[in-house]
Amino acid sequence: MFQATQNDAYLETVSRRIEGEYLTWCEQFLDIISGQLEAGMSCTLNDIGCCAGQFYKSLKRRNLPVSYRGFDIEPAYLEIACRYFPELKDSVSTLDVEQSPPPQADITIVSATLEHLNDPFLAVARLLASTNRIFLARSFIDGTALDQWLQKPGASAPYRIRQFTQDEFAAAVESQGFDIRFLEDRYTKSEPFEIAPGIVRVQRLALGIRRA
Ligand SMILES: C[S@@+](CC[C@H](N)C(=O)[O-])C[C@H]1O[C@@H](n2cnc3c(N)ncnc32)[C@H](O)[C@@H]1O
Repeated sequence: MFQATQNDAYLETVSRRIEGEYLTWCEQFLDIISGQLEAGMSCTLNDIGCCAGQFYKSLKRRNLPVSYRGFDIEPAYLEIACRYFPELKDSVSTLDVEQSPPPQADITIVSATLEHLNDPFLAVARLLASTNRIFLARSFIDGTALDQWLQKPGASAPYRIRQFTQDEFAAAVESQGFDIRFLEDRYTKSEPFEIAPGIVRVQRLALGIRRA
């Protein structure tokens, strides 16, 4: 479970943010998605690694015709999501994207999750196969592939923090019948930042559109 790689402070941050903050990445994702929606058409969206529902919170205040489903490997985060948004009871479920595919959706989003997986490109292939139109990912993507493990104080297990090259990420997406564009991450401006001593990463967005 993901929380084993985190500590109590992380769980508190997850709860505090859901109570009080709208996150920049959620607003950026929604700006992109709004620009892609066809007038008058409703659609379904899968949020992979949805945690406690930060994206759902931003989606809710925009009133877009988007039917939301959230998936996460960690029940503790989904419990927080359902506490703050009781209407999510039947719309969020536990899922390990490395083990099983989500149901089909028009749009798939995945933020800050792929870089922690053991087999991220298997997950990307699964997510693309279950996506009818738009795949929007936010991950560590730059010119160099990196793979390090971080042991957080108070966590019972270390967690993996990869970085993908733009070329390998593009190849994984294009091979599944999608065109891809990389976009600057609004929060970090895609500038290198130090997550922990010796672990420097660049955050980017990858927007995949299924070819006609
Ligand atoms: C760093 S958090 C990112 C949360 C949120 N998407 C965001 O960007 O703020 C990573 C999330 O991915 C989830 N996760 C990790 N591995 C997963 C897997 N194999 N399948 C589904 N969710 C996973 C974690 O439980 C956690 O909620």
